[in-house]
Amino acid sequence: MPKTITVGLIGFGTIGTGVVKTLQMNGELITKRLGAEIRLKKIADLDIETDRGVKVDPSILTTNAEEILNDPEIDVIIELMGGYHPAREFILKGIENGKSIVTANKALMAKHGEEIFEAAEAKGVSIGFEASVGGAIPVIRTIKEDFAANEILSIFGIVNGTANYILSKMSDQGEDFQDALKEAQRLGFAEADPTFDIEGHDSAHKIALLATLAFGTRVPIDDVYMEGISKITQDDIHFAKQFGYRIKLLAIAKQCGDSLDIRVHPTMISVDNPISNINGATNAIEILGNAMETSMLVGEGAGSLPTASAVVGDVIEISRNILTGGQNRVPARSFLKENIRTMPIKPMEEIESEYYLRFYVVDRPGVLSKISGILGNNNISIGSVIQKEQKENSGVPLVITTHTAMERNIRNALAEIDKLDIIKKETFYLRLEKEG
Ligand code: HSE
Repeated sequence: MPKTITVGLIGFGTIGTGVVKTLQMNGELITKRLGAEIRLKKIADLDIETDRGVKVDPSILTTNAEEILNDPEIDVIIELMGGYHPAREFILKGIENGKSIVTANKALMAKHGEEIFEAAEAKGVSIGFEASVGGAIPVIRTIKEDFAANEILSIFGIVNGTANYILSKMSDQGEDFQDALKEAQRLGFAEADPTFDIEGHDSAHKIALLATLAFGTRVPIDDVYMEGISKITQDDIHFAKQFGYRIKLLAIAKQCGDSLDIRVHPTMISVDNPISNINGATNAIEILGNAMETSMLVGEGAGSLPTASAVVGDVIEISRNILTGGQNRVPARSFLKENIRTMPIKPMEEIESEYYLRFYVVDRPGVLSKISGILGNNNISIGSVIQKEQKENSGVPLVITTHTAMERNIRNALAEIDKLDIIKKETFYLRLEKEG
């Protein structure tokens, strides 16, 4: 039985540095749990000059990832470089050379996961990707193992800390979207180009991965509906509070008969639902199973050490499997390969929800009746109406919430309403979730 598991790290950025720190900080403890030492033999990165604030023997640094991919001593490769290329090629080559892989790369796994999982299955090596969703939150292992007795019915997740930080700032401190974004960038929560986080791409990758594990289905990532948070205004935050809701960027996956309802969009969630109270950069994932009922996992979704905690946790699990000969005891995708299906994705136009509609209208008699008439003609029933005081030039905010309606009818009605001369700017709408 080997007493050392040898590891190579590709990508010495924020999380890579966290992995080195974690192994240095907790190496002895890990050895006590594992019965073997995890030895970091090589680190590859294009930049091996920058001081990352962590001590490493310079002889283990290389700019050439091939030194890791082709090293016969290395058992596990940690890929933390991010992006599609050359991360995909490196992972496939590592697998081909018989190495297990640990990655935090949600974009790659959401797009090329099937190819990577199948290559690993064919070679009998493992893929750990716990760090790709929810940082330190153990959601992947929990779905695959602890919830394996259940038919999972739905997943609701706040899985992007950047967007949640911005929405929390807007809600708690009355900041506009742009100011909250600048603050998030100043504090290092948001990237210089924040598109991926605030427009929903990152959440879409994460919910696609979770849906695959929960429902045993392939999810073509380009078919996941996404809407970001950049159009939300202080008026929306204010009205949400008045109605007893908070606005969160929610990643949703639900089983709807034989089809999959999967989408990412800002959602008004009732304050009675605990997920509405998850603030700042924290992530939360609420899962409903037919035996377990609802369970919510909460924790740090990003950051150097929290994400490294998940990465090293995967290395430990894979090491245990190597040491005991139990490789792939748990299928990487939760379901056996032959049982993975392709559920059709429910078209967005067919989803049903309650809605929040925010109009800016001229303040004159007959406006409300025109709007409500068009809603009625489209089979949309009004739940409540609020009109705020006059604003300069931009019209009066008029807010209507609806009873359950079909998205197609909402879109048709708004297209018609927005052509009216009483409408001062394009109408904005949000979907409401009362409970998980
Ligand atoms: N960019 C992500 C977030 C963290 O803001 O939550 C990495 O998945």
